This record gives sequence, C-alpha cells and structure tokens, in this order.
Amino acid sequence: MKKTSLKKLSLLVLGTAVLFCAGCSPFSSAATNTASAPVQQPAANTVQLKTKVLFINASRNREGNTEKMGERFLSGIDHDTLFLNDYKIYQLGQHFPDDQMATVLNAMEQADTIVIGTPVYWHTMSGPLKTFIDRLYELDRPLKALAGKKLYFLMQGAAPSKETLQHTPFILSRVASQYDMKYMGAATAPDNMADLQSVLRQNQ
Ligand SMILES: Cc1cc2nc3c(=O)[nH]c(=O)nc-3n(C[C@H](O)[C@H](O)[C@H](O)COP(=O)(O)O)c2cc1C
Repeated sequence: MKKTSLKKLSLLVLGTAVLFCAGCSPFSSAATNTASAPVQQPAANTVQLKTKVLFINASRNREGNTEKMGERFLSGIDHDTLFLNDYKIYQLGQHFPDDQMATVLNAMEQADTIVIGTPVYWHTMSGPLKTFIDRLYELDRPLKALAGKKLYFLMQGAAPSKETLQHTPFILSRVASQYDMKYMGAATAPDNMADLQSVLRQNQ
C-alpha cells in the first residue's frame, strides 16, 4: 500500500474512534443532563436593590420551604430577595474570573436589614451559605458590606436535631460578631417565628 493511502486510512480510523468516544464518554452527556436540569445562566454582575431589606435565600429551591418561611417572616415588609444559587461563589482558595462574591456583597451593602434563610442539609446550613461564609475570611475587616447591618437568621428542615438547632444559629451569631453586624436572632422552624417577627417589626 502506498504511503499516502496508509496515512488516509489511519486518519479515517482515528476520526471514527474520536466520534465514537465523543458519543459514549460520560463527559459528553450534556444533552441528557440538560433534559433533567436546565443549564443555569449566571446572574448579572450588579444588583440594584429596591428596598433596604434583603432576604438571602440559600436554598436550591426557588419556591421551596425556605422561600415560604422567608416570605412569611417578611410579610407586610417591602424587601428584595437574592437567591444565593444564582451567583457563582467559588470555594475559599479558588480564584476564577467569573466569581460573583463581590456582587452579593454589593447587594448586602445596599441593605440595612439582612435576613438569611437556609434549609438544613446534613445537620447544618446549606453548602452555598457555608461557602459564602468561608469566603468572608479572605476579605479585610471591617467589611463595609456587613458592618452595622441587622442580621436575622431563618432555618428549617425536615426534622432538625437538637444539635443542629443549637449550633447552626451559633455559627451565624459568630459570623455576625466577627463582621460587626447586629445579630437579631434566629427562627428554626416556620411555626416558631413569632418572637423574631416581633423583633423585626420593632426594628423597622
Ligand atoms: C442534601 C440534603 C440534606 C438534608 N439534611 C437534612 C438534615 O440533616 N436534617 C433535616 O432536618 N432535614 C434535612 N434535609 C431536608 C431539608 O432540610 C428540607 O426538605 C427542607 O424543607 C428543604 O428546604 P427547601 O424546600 O427550601 O429546599 C436535607 C435535604 C437535603 C436535600
């Protein structure tokens, strides 16, 4: 066989192998993934709040129990909502150009009351909220975005353990004190918000 024909044959075999592998590789199954979970578009890099009260929802569900608890807690009070999952907040130590930690901080800076709501995952807050808190570590204090803001903490879970009910609000109270926020308290179930709601109303 001539040298050029051999080269063409090798290229054909190689090309067929590449095409076959592209179809069977787990890394090329975007079409399957897209069908079950639509690809999410990153949120804009600037957020303009319409109010001075910001509800940060750290749930993966836009209309889930955390959302319902937050809306009930804030009923009758004008507020903005920010879904943490809409923003790319990479892990502490990761530095990617499309990171949006600054966008979330900028939104917080515009508020004077911040309500953070999370579902209970594995006996504590959700991963996105934990990552957000970890990321504060690499920022200089005092942090303008947080200092002086009133912080209310909401959490709810299927059947949170007594340890969860104690230590998760404790973490948030520690964060508040580290970043010069005024910690106003926590509600740990939707039917257990009355006391914190009166604190909120007295402080609006
Ligand atoms: C990954 C994961 C872990 C969970 N771990 C707990 C848990 O440790 N304790 C608990 O009470 N509920 C746990 N739950 C249940 C959720 O907290 C509960 O369904 C909650 O209402 C979800 O809120 P959402 O509707 O805002 O997503 C877990 C749910 C998920 C998805």
